[in-house]
Amino acid sequence: MTKQTNSGIWITGASSGIGRAAAIEFAKTGAEVFVSSRRAAELERLQTYLSKEKSRVEIFPCNVASPSNVERTVKKIIAGHQIDCLINNAGITSFKKAEANSIQEINDVINTNLLGAIYTIKYVLPHMIERRGGTIINIISIAAKKIFTHSSAYAASKSGLLAYTNSLREEVREYNIRIINIVPGAIETSIWPDAVRKENAGRMMKAEDIGQLLVRLYLQKGNIVTEEIVVRPITGDLS
Ligand SMILES: NC(=O)c1ccc[n+]([C@@H]2O[C@H](COP(=O)([O-])OP(=O)(O)OC[C@H]3O[C@@H](n4cnc5c(N)ncnc54)[C@H](OP(=O)(O)O)[C@@H]3O)[C@@H](O)[C@H]2O)c1
Repeated sequence: MTKQTNSGIWITGASSGIGRAAAIEFAKTGAEVFVSSRRAAELERLQTYLSKEKSRVEIFPCNVASPSNVERTVKKIIAGHQIDCLINNAGITSFKKAEANSIQEINDVINTNLLGAIYTIKYVLPHMIERRGGTIINIISIAAKKIFTHSSAYAASKSGLLAYTNSLREEVREYNIRIINIVPGAIETSIWPDAVRKENAGRMMKAEDIGQLLVRLYLQKGNIVTEEIVVRPITGDLS
């Protein structure tokens, strides 16, 4: 892809999977890409890989489940840059039945997937409102639309984020802020157990394809906002 933007793009959960793929795709467009996750060493590996490709990202380690950590990270980024686009991608799951989940597991899923995204929005929003513009892309999940077992806390976190951001969208229209929700089915990443990944690799979507989709949606010109987009493997859901 040729250079197309010099926007500032903050991607959470960029150390692997979709977030990493999105960072690579946005970096190719010439965007200033700010990558966050808890594992700084993985972000450094990404930076090294991209520097060989003559592209770059800037590293801002951040645990989105910590509001103080999110607040500090946003301050650090905006001290030297503009955040034109926030991509709420950091996420975890627990593939257990409801009664088998510990309180810790439930808290971790809700605090990361739902509250983590709400915290990043909370701290980025004033910056976007002041400039009267911006884009917030949220990686939801098909589990917010369709019923799957062994996914109760995860489904709650993603449905909650969908409801939160649908309400937010109506509040921020007047500031020219676009809220884009991506609702994907199965993508082959490390969020899945190895056995599922191995068995279904051929059927699952690729993180790279989602990364390219995010770039296309971000670069959409004119007064259009793609409010919600559902993407599935062509052969359908895994179960
Ligand atoms: N794969 C799928 O089939 C699928 C389908 C629908 C939606 N999604 C969603 O897509 C998003 C990305 O997942 P993925 O599939 O790419 O899985 P992944 O490869 O496991 O990536 C998850 C990313 O989130 C980061 N992360 C987890 N907890 C974090 C925290 N507290 N603070 C900051 N970063 C955190 C991880 O980095 P660190 O461990 O370094 O923090 C990692 O970079 C998730 O929100 C997931 O729910 C995935």
